[in-house]
Amino acid sequence: MKKNILEAPFVKEICRLASNMYRLGWDERNGGNISYLLDEAEVGEYLDLDKPLRVIPNSGVHPTGFDASPLAGKIFLVTGTGRYFKNVEYDPETNLGIVRICQDGKSSEVLWGYKGGGRPSSEFPAHMMSHMARLKVDPKQRIVIHCHPSNILAMTYVHDLDEAKFSHTLWEMSTECIVVFPEGVGVLPWMLCGTDEIGVATAKKMEDFRIVLWTNHGIYGAGDDVDEAFGLIETVEKAATIYNLIGGREIKNTISEENFLELIKQFSLEKVVNYSFFNNPEYRALKK
Ligand code: 13P
Ligand code: ZN
Repeated sequence: MKKNILEAPFVKEICRLASNMYRLGWDERNGGNISYLLDEAEVGEYLDLDKPLRVIPNSGVHPTGFDASPLAGKIFLVTGTGRYFKNVEYDPETNLGIVRICQDGKSSEVLWGYKGGGRPSSEFPAHMMSHMARLKVDPKQRIVIHCHPSNILAMTYVHDLDEAKFSHTLWEMSTECIVVFPEGVGVLPWMLCGTDEIGVATAKKMEDFRIVLWTNHGIYGAGDDVDEAFGLIETVEKAATIYNLIGGREIKNTISEENFLELIKQFSLEKVVNYSFFNNPEYRALKK
């Protein structure tokens, strides 16, 4: 006798996450998507893993050719395409789904959800490719979150998109930023969403960063658990809020290079800081 999937901790956790994201204004309408790598044995307590409901091609907005075979057999809880975040907690079976990546890497078995014929997010390629990239650098990696927080989105309209400069500005907006994301943030220029191409570009950035910004669109955050990925996005969005509150007014007091170095020593960030920032000539030029 299988347990009720609606009571599964991983379903409840994603429902809570979607509602929190919605209330923070990060996910208007169907904006944003979540993918969560599940433990097969745990899912097996709730679902018959030998009885998939249907098989669907892996796809973006349109059918795509990306190869997810490195994730073959892995099971993900993924928000449905076109589904509103505000509704997830009230009807998880329609707004969420659980898929297992097929051996061919081109299709997935739907094990639960997407009631009424739905399918995974149109950003499935970017999510799966990001999982592949993060799992290579961090075998505990489990979650990828995409959303559209207003302040970081606004900042991509007015700030230089150079990664070192963008990261430096975010670090300056609050003392804890460099502690929370010492590697900085990856930045992509505007690209067409829902495609393999933006998936490849996002995954490439995910080799170095847990946060990737999509200019004029939103943000990707990855982590070992929900709290880590959520907390990263929350911290970046807070920094961007401070940036927008300053709004071009003269800055009279900021966090200096010396202060950053004190923080690096205090929190042993030597281990994790991507020193490319410090060796980057543009970063160095900023200090002059
Ligand atoms: P989906 O509804 O397909 O998940 O797309 C929302 C989104 O944010 C696209 O980038
Ligand atoms: Zn989006």
